Amino acid sequence: MSKNKVVIITGAGSGMGYATAKRFVKDGFKVVLNGRNENKLKKAAAEIGSENCLVVPGDVSIEKDIEHLINLTIQTYDRLDVLVNNAGIFIGGGIENLSLADWNKQFAVNSTGPFLTIKKALPYLEKTKGNIVNVSSVSGIGGDWGALGYDASKGALNLLTKALALDFAPKGIRINAIAPSLTDTDMGAGAINDKEMMAEFKKRIAMGRAGKSEEIADVIAFLASEESSFITGTILPVDGGLSASNGQPKL
Ligand SMILES: NC(=O)c1ccc[n+]([C@@H]2O[C@H](COP(=O)([O-])OP(=O)(O)OC[C@H]3O[C@@H](n4cnc5c(N)ncnc54)[C@H](O)[C@@H]3O)[C@@H](O)[C@H]2O)c1
Repeated sequence: MSKNKVVIITGAGSGMGYATAKRFVKDGFKVVLNGRNENKLKKAAAEIGSENCLVVPGDVSIEKDIEHLINLTIQTYDRLDVLVNNAGIFIGGGIENLSLADWNKQFAVNSTGPFLTIKKALPYLEKTKGNIVNVSSVSGIGGDWGALGYDASKGALNLLTKALALDFAPKGIRINAIAPSLTDTDMGAGAINDKEMMAEFKKRIAMGRAGKSEEIADVIAFLASEESSFITGTILPVDGGLSASNGQPKL
């Protein structure tokens, strides 16, 4: 049990963020739930145990929202042990039809958001020798057809993770990322209505299924725990074996 430890989770109202909040409450943390929709966050907190949760609505791409998130966390709990940068958006499209606004929007949430939260959280994480887990994607390691904006924004998050891990290892702060493939959330498997497309995904994932949010939460909890005390700067695939393939088709 990690009694009295404090974690901030962005995008905690649904999907992996919700499952991660639930897991950290179970582990004895005080959990700060961030996201844009206050009602959704309050509902999530009520489901997983409001007495252990603090709801702080806000947009991760807006600096003053992040200042408020960190300040209220410290005012309420007087410490911060773990930051989970989970909030993310996906906007597909090739270069011909992806607008500059949509390119910028994905970078604002997927890369600048973590930059801002980390910048404001680091002074407090230094005090607790805490750590950071960024939720990236296999799409930040290799490219997808027709999703260059998402891929580039997650690729930026991966190198943000590695570069910061180097800078902050001497201060005892670990910074890692996970790289899920298709997961059972609204953004992932829930967004695919087409049976054929789902079958194509399953062909590429060695284990033949989408990941479960709880399986992602378990890995985040591991990277945030003392069990992973010698791991920093890693981008850990949580993808049912998708990245074990070199990309050649099954013969
Ligand atoms: N589902 C998948 O297949 C999959 C695969 C790889 C990576 N990911 C990544 O996992 C993370 C979680 O996504 P999910 O699958 O649980 O989907 P989701 O849509 O359920 O969760 C994303 C959450 O982020 C929140 N969010 C979006 N923009 C925000 C902003 N500006 N400020 C604050 N919160 C914001 C949303 O409200 C939502 O609650 C994302 O970073 C996503 O890119 C998802």
